[in-house]
Amino acid sequence: MTLDMFFDPFCLKAIVRTPDPFRHQAPGFEAEGIARTALRGVYRQGSRSLQALGLPGICNFAVNRGRILSESGMVSGMDILEIRGFRIYRGFLDADAQAGLVGDLRAVAAQAPMFSPMTPYGKPMRVKMTSAGKYGWMSDRRGYRYVTQHPDGADWPPIPERVQDIWRKLVSDERAPDCCLVNYYGEGARMGMHQDRDEADFSWPVLSVSLGDEGLFRIGNQTRGGKTESIWLRSGDVVVMGGDARLTYHGVDKIRSGSSSLLEKGGRINLTCRVVD
Ligand code: SIN
Ligand code: MN
Repeated sequence: MTLDMFFDPFCLKAIVRTPDPFRHQAPGFEAEGIARTALRGVYRQGSRSLQALGLPGICNFAVNRGRILSESGMVSGMDILEIRGFRIYRGFLDADAQAGLVGDLRAVAAQAPMFSPMTPYGKPMRVKMTSAGKYGWMSDRRGYRYVTQHPDGADWPPIPERVQDIWRKLVSDERAPDCCLVNYYGEGARMGMHQDRDEADFSWPVLSVSLGDEGLFRIGNQTRGGKTESIWLRSGDVVVMGGDARLTYHGVDKIRSGSSSLLEKGGRINLTCRVVD
């Protein structure tokens, strides 16, 4: 994967020294550090001097150690934040791409209707879900697991091409995801802190796409408990949870109802793509 598809020339110049910075196998932190330092240096000069320099725009990077450096809105490039190893591509999907995805997901849900799974403890989950791909994620009295069929008995529909395309751009074109889990959060829905650990292979990241109302996403640690950090994920944001952060606890505390008009009936959709076996 190269970054020139969605970075302006200045960013590309800063990033080009990184052979493959965003692949989970080779995070390339050193080179990425060079890029970040360069960008931060320019960032400090402020938006007026950026224009004076004739730069067409700049990516707004955050520091790597959990604190967001800047969300000032002065930049025209895409923001990439990194919090505890979770890479957050702010506004990765524009309005057309988001609407296209919603259409694709309607087709998925027509074939594989959304359902409210039971937790292994016998409580219905607040989030509704369905899946696309070779496997779908399930929960019931028997536990959390991947299954090859919807509870109705049909195979899961294929993962939409638009979703596969995001995976290819941000994760890999060598291996496609096996599962695209589609979660729907209505008003009041939330998801408790958990690890994604039902897959056989943790060397592949989980890729998450947010659509519709904003969701307050909480990032914890590799073991349960401890200090956490939260960020509002907006429609069009994409998160890659990989490398050392692959087994980091995370959850969604609340949904900001009415913050987006993307979904006719409101609410939030989150897609997570995973390599399962
Ligand atoms: C998940 O962890 O499965 C969902 C995350 C999200 O909704 O943003
Ligand atoms: Mn998860």
